[in-house]
Amino acid sequence: MAGRGNFSNRLGFILAAAGSAVGLGNIWKFPFEVEAGGGAAFVLIYLIFCFVLCFPVMVTEIAIGRKTNKNAVGAFNALGYDKWNIIGKMGILAGVVILSFYNVVAGWAFGYFFEMAQGNFSVGKTFGTYVSDAGTTGVYALIFMSFTAYVVSKGVSAGIEKGAKILMPTLIIMILGLLAYSLTLPNAMTGVKYYLIPEFSELNLKTIGGALRQSFFSLSLGMGTIITYGSYLSKKENIVSASVSVTFFDVGIALLAGLMLFPLVAYSTGGDMSNIQGGAGLIFAALPSVFESLGSGLGSILGALFFLLLSFAALTSTVSLLEVPVSYVVDEHKISRPKATAITAGIVFLVGLPSLLGNGYSDTFTSFITYIGAENAVTFMDFLGHLADCMLLLGGFLIVTFAGYVWKKENLNEELAIGYEGYENSKVKVFLGFAVRYLCPALLGLLFVLVV
Ligand code: PHE
Repeated sequence: MAGRGNFSNRLGFILAAAGSAVGLGNIWKFPFEVEAGGGAAFVLIYLIFCFVLCFPVMVTEIAIGRKTNKNAVGAFNALGYDKWNIIGKMGILAGVVILSFYNVVAGWAFGYFFEMAQGNFSVGKTFGTYVSDAGTTGVYALIFMSFTAYVVSKGVSAGIEKGAKILMPTLIIMILGLLAYSLTLPNAMTGVKYYLIPEFSELNLKTIGGALRQSFFSLSLGMGTIITYGSYLSKKENIVSASVSVTFFDVGIALLAGLMLFPLVAYSTGGDMSNIQGGAGLIFAALPSVFESLGSGLGSILGALFFLLLSFAALTSTVSLLEVPVSYVVDEHKISRPKATAITAGIVFLVGLPSLLGNGYSDTFTSFITYIGAENAVTFMDFLGHLADCMLLLGGFLIVTFAGYVWKKENLNEELAIGYEGYENSKVKVFLGFAVRYLCPALLGLLFVLVV
């Protein structure tokens, strides 16, 4: 497959796939999902979903990609099942939707990095004004999309892999540094307890549905990102063990992010956790004043570090989101990678305009947003997020069903046996065979109907 590009080795693939997985979902969203969903009770359900339901989807996506060396749509055609390429088409659509608003939030994080570096902690208090000032946020969103497009245009090993090899280790060091520091603060343990003590009473269909959606979103599953990355994986690597590494990586970073954040929050509230704000508000509205309370010097260093970390995590994810449509255009329409990247990134940026300008900055987009029933641009983005999550779950359901009943588990197993000594007689094989035919289709189908 000369010209399509490949990851140079196993580590390159793992870092790129983990880079896709680790993102705003882990650092911005996960901690508050945990908090709202009953602490450790939610974490437990989440872990079960990741390892029992998501894991089979991940190995299947990688196997389909690697078998065919094709993008999310072309892969199904190459296997001879053209009708099933609807999975890839829906994936491209989901990717465009997610990237359109994800890039806007990534732009906020990037903008906050500069604000913190200058010691401007008051942005948190004026978060509402900040996000409606598209003159500023628009520039950051544009810069962020350009970074993303730059990395993607460089191709697989010189762009995506190289970016991940620089950004992922830096991200781990930053997160561990911030975590170590936050645990030394007064009231840190109050924060940790608040985060992790299980409240089984808060588990209900809604929080369980939240855990399921979060697991698919966080592991970048159900939309062909992993099919696409799998198509660049060398023919000798063990797919099962690579998937285990990526899953641990993603889950580990999400757990650490919560451990880092809640002590900071507990410190700033003096240990009173009765009134904390979740979601977008916590990171962008409350965290700046936490950094302020650490003093202008240290606070601005740690604040800048935190938002840089968030930007880095977001960048390896935006790259993977853009790569899905780009690889499709490159493979199927024979357009050069730089050109395909520029066109796709431009389209996604336009799709993101309501999220960017709908907060009162532009009358047209603001009325568009209220017209379709959202209160403001932030709730509009929530709505898009929810819609995309449903597409990922549906995509995941269709992918395992395809592997279990159409492509057949023998073909899947043949791909999974590569580089895995003893796979033929392993329990993993038995589990995966059962999972793609019965467990995942049944549970994903059931939960989809029940919770979304
Ligand atoms: N997994 C990323 C995150 O948690 C988001 C993402 C979803 C990236 C789907 C690619 C595909 O932030």
